[in-house]
Amino acid sequence: MKKVSRNDPCWCGSTEKYKKCHLEYDQDRQRKLSVFAQRGYPVPDIGLLKTGADIEGIRKSGQLTKSILDALSGFIQPGISTDAINEFVHEMTIKNHAIPAPLNYKGFPKSCCTSVNEVICHGIPSDRRLLEGDIVNVDVTCILNGYYGDSCRMYEVGKVSERARRLSDVSKACLDAAISVVQPYLPISVIGEAIEKVAHEAGFSVVRDFVGHGIGQIFHQSPYVPHFKPDYRTMIMAPGMVFTIEPMINEGKWQSKVLADGWTAETIDGKLSAQWEHTVAVTDQGVDVLTA
Ligand code: MF3
Ligand code: CO
Ligand code: CO
Repeated sequence: MKKVSRNDPCWCGSTEKYKKCHLEYDQDRQRKLSVFAQRGYPVPDIGLLKTGADIEGIRKSGQLTKSILDALSGFIQPGISTDAINEFVHEMTIKNHAIPAPLNYKGFPKSCCTSVNEVICHGIPSDRRLLEGDIVNVDVTCILNGYYGDSCRMYEVGKVSERARRLSDVSKACLDAAISVVQPYLPISVIGEAIEKVAHEAGFSVVRDFVGHGIGQIFHQSPYVPHFKPDYRTMIMAPGMVFTIEPMINEGKWQSKVLADGWTAETIDGKLSAQWEHTVAVTDQGVDVLTA
């Protein structure tokens, strides 16, 4: 969000002058945030907060991402390669006038991430064929009209083991618990606390090497969204903040290692990992899930 002068048209797109429209709203938000800033909490810069029009743009993109993830349910089955998933995602993205954000992002070679079994995240689609019993995460990010929508899910390949299903279900429950605690003027650290509670009660661990992130017209921006309770003060949430929550939950140890390809992150003990992700907006009341 850019700074607007009193007599400029309001940033919300109403055609009213700013002073008659959202000026008081913005001043109120700024006042509340400065109380936290005085107490030593990091607070978002005004430039980080999205307008209503921005949020609708991110939602449109997020809804395309959701429709691609929905369509993959009927496509993923034993015998298909992760390259075939990549092609499916790529084609459906460009047919809908969007750009697959991962392609060429910092050198990433494909249009989505496919992370199988012990792969935590950033798996690169390849000619590897999925086998009955595998669990695979597909992470899709569309760029539509300049806005990014980022979401991922787990898929079961044929019939999977009880523990694989439980890990996937618990990871989803971690994301749901995290979303339910999002509200303005709380620190982001409540998210990680909610995730750890669900994961630890189930006997699983929470990955610490990858975090959720601010998103909008940029793929990854401030704030950091750790999925564990950090030992530092996290940013205060404010209406207009948009970020992802994307907990990665491990069956065994939380530690990861990145393979020689520079991307693929695996569990260090070779045990299973699962992840679910949504892009969310902080509202005046609570939270709005833009990829649901
Ligand atoms: N979509 C991933 C995320 O949730 C990022 C993938 S980056 C890529 O942040 F380069 F691997 F595509
Ligand atoms: Co993300
Ligand atoms: Co993602």
